[in-house]
Amino acid sequence: MATKGNPGDNRNKSFLPSLLVIAALCCFFYVLGVWKRSGFGKGDSIALEITKKAEDCGILPNLEYETHHGNQSTSFDDPKQDVKEIEPCGEQYIDYTPCHDQMRAMTFPRENMNYRERHCPPDEEKLHCLVPAPKGYVTPFSWPKSRDYVPFANAPHKSLTVEKAVQNWVQYEGDVFRFPGGGTQFPNGADAYIDQLASVIPMENGTVRTALDTGCGVASWGAYLFKKNVLTMSFAPRDSHEAQVQFALERGVPAVIGVLGTIKLPYPSRAFDMAHCSRCLIPWGANDGLYMTEVDRVLRPGGYWVLSGPPINWRVNYQAWQRPKEELEEEQRKIEEMAELLCWEKKHEKGETAIWRKRVNNEYCREHDSRVTLCESSNAANVWYKKMEACITPYPETTNSDEVAGGGLQPFPDRLNTVPPRIASGSVPGFSVEAFKEDNKLWKKHVNSYKRVNKILDNGRYRNIMDMNAGLGSFAAALESPKLWVMNVVPTIAEKDTLGVVYERGLIGIYHDWCEAFSTYPRTYDLIHANRVFSLYKDKCSVEDILLEMDRILRPEGAVILRDHVDVLTQVKRIATGMRWNIKMVDHEDGPLIPEKVLFAVRKYWVVGDNNSTV
Ligand SMILES: *[C@@H]1O[C@H](CO)[C@@H](O)[C@H](O)[C@H]1NC(C)=O
Ligand SMILES: *[C@@H]1O[C@H](CO)[C@@H](O)[C@H](O)[C@H]1NC(C)=O
Ligand SMILES: *[C@@H]1O[C@H](CO)[C@@H](O)[C@H](O)[C@H]1NC(C)=O
Repeated sequence: MATKGNPGDNRNKSFLPSLLVIAALCCFFYVLGVWKRSGFGKGDSIALEITKKAEDCGILPNLEYETHHGNQSTSFDDPKQDVKEIEPCGEQYIDYTPCHDQMRAMTFPRENMNYRERHCPPDEEKLHCLVPAPKGYVTPFSWPKSRDYVPFANAPHKSLTVEKAVQNWVQYEGDVFRFPGGGTQFPNGADAYIDQLASVIPMENGTVRTALDTGCGVASWGAYLFKKNVLTMSFAPRDSHEAQVQFALERGVPAVIGVLGTIKLPYPSRAFDMAHCSRCLIPWGANDGLYMTEVDRVLRPGGYWVLSGPPINWRVNYQAWQRPKEELEEEQRKIEEMAELLCWEKKHEKGETAIWRKRVNNEYCREHDSRVTLCESSNAANVWYKKMEACITPYPETTNSDEVAGGGLQPFPDRLNTVPPRIASGSVPGFSVEAFKEDNKLWKKHVNSYKRVNKILDNGRYRNIMDMNAGLGSFAAALESPKLWVMNVVPTIAEKDTLGVVYERGLIGIYHDWCEAFSTYPRTYDLIHANRVFSLYKDKCSVEDILLEMDRILRPEGAVILRDHVDVLTQVKRIATGMRWNIKMVDHEDGPLIPEKVLFAVRKYWVVGDNNSTV
C-alpha cells in the first residue's frame, strides 16, 4: 500500500496522503462495484452506478490516512504480517443458527416450546470459521420486488417443503420463489385483510406505527403493512424444515427467530402500537393466559391486539378446522376471560377476526387490580433470559382519565424527532431533553459523513440494516426512508436502557447480548453499523467472536461501518482482514486529531467451495 509507513513521517505533508486516501477509497468502491454480482441483470446497473459515483470521489473532504494516535507501530495500514486467515466452515453450516441449533434444541424439553427458545453453544463449542453462502447465491431483488420474489439459490434446499405445502403463501417458479401475499391466512389477499383491520385500527395516519407479529409465517402481514407506513417486528420459531424467518428477511421484511415459550420477549414494556396473531398456533388461553399477559406487557397503553383464525368464529369453522366444537369454545372463553382481566376493551369481532384494545391508562382498571397480581415495576426492563411471570405490568401513574399513561405520542413521522415521553419525563437517567437533541444532531452529521464515503448508503441497495448499539435510535432516525429499515439493537450490557425510547420514536429494535449469536439466519443483513460495540464488550468476550457473528449475519457484498477508538479499531481491523473483508479506516469527520475513527468494510463475494481467501 502506498501510504504505509511510519505515521509520524508525513505530518507536515498531509496534503499528499489525503490525495492517496481519496484514490484508495475510489479504488475501494470501484472494486466494490466490480464485485457486485446480483442476479437477474440487476448487478450491472448497481455496478455502473457505483463506478460512476466513484469518479467524483475527488470531493471527499480532508480525509487523512496517517494515524495520529496510538503507538507508532499501529499504522492503519499494517502489512499483513500478523493476520490470521480464518477458514470457511463446512457446507453443512450454510444455514447455521448457533442459538437455535436443531441438535441442541432436541436436548431441551418440548413443554411450553422451551426447546425452540434460545439455547446458545458454550464457548468451547463456538465455531471459529466463516459461514459460507450457498452456490449461486445472489443479492436479493430490491424492494418492493423483493416482497414478492426471492431467488431460489438463496434458500435452495427448501423446495421440498414448499412443494408439499398446500398453503398458498409461497410458490416455486423456476429460479425464484414467489409470494402471492395471500394464502390460507388471507383468502382475499393481505391488502384486503389489512384494510379490514384499518377500519377499526387507526393505521392510516401514523397513529399506529409499530407492530408485533407473533408467529409470523413468511411475514406477509408485515410486508404489506409497509404500504401503510407501519413497521412490523415479526417473529417465528426456527423450525426443522420451514425457514419462515429466513424467507421474511430475504423478502426485506424485519423478522427474528423467536417464540413465546417460557422466557420474556426481548422487547421493552409499552413498546408496540399493535400486536397480531393470525393462525399463529400460540395457545393464548393456556397457562392462565400467560402469553396474553406478555403481549399486554409489550403493548403501549391504547395499543391494539388482533387475533384471527382459531378459535375465533368456531361456530362456523370447527368442522373445517377439524377440531371439537367444545374445545374451541373453551379456548375462546378463556381468551375472552383473560382479555377481561387484562382490562382490554373488545372493539370488534367479524368473521375470523377479533380486535381488542388496551386501555390508555389505569382509570378503567382499578376494580380489576384486586383480582390480578401486579408485577414489581422496578425491574420492568430486565427481560433478557428472564422467565415470564404470571403478573400484570402496571401502567405508569396518570392524573386524569384522558391522559395516556407514560405519555401520548405524536403520529408518525412527527414522533421520529420530537422529544420522546421517556426522555421528557426523565425516566432514562442521564438523557436529558438537551442530550436527546444533541444526539439526534450528532447522528445526522455522522450519517452525512458516511454518505460521503459510501454514496449508496440510502439509495435502496441496503434494505435490512442493523445498528448493533443503537442508543436512542438516532442513526436509524437519520436514515429513515421507506426504502430501508433498521433493527436497533440495545445491548443487554449497555449502561442505559434506551430501547423504550427507540420504540417511542416509531422505530423498532431488540435487546441482545453480542457475546452470543443473534436470533437470525446467516446472510440476513445488508449493512451493519456498530458504534463503540467493541469498546463496550472489551472485557466481556472476544473481538473475534463478535466479528465472526457479524460476518455470519452479513450478506456477501454487504457493508460494515464501525465507529470506535483508534486502538480498538486497529485490533478489529487486523482480525477482520483475515475474514475476507475489504477494509478502509478513515478519520473522524472532524479531523485526524480525534481518537475516534471509522472503519468501512465490505464482505467479499464468495460461496461454499471457494477456499482461496484471495477471491
Ligand atoms: C504505547 O506504548 C507504550 C510503551 O510501549 C505503552 O505503555 C502504552 O500503553 C501504549 N499505548 C497504547 C495506546 O497502546
Ligand atoms: C387518526 O385517525 C383516527 C381514526 O380514523 C382518528 O381517531 C385520529 O384522531 C386520527 N389522528 C390524527 C392525528 O389525525
Ligand atoms: C474447501 O474446504 C472445505 C472445508 O475445509 C473442504 O471440505 C473442501 O474439500 C475444500 N474444497 C476445495 C475445492 O479445496
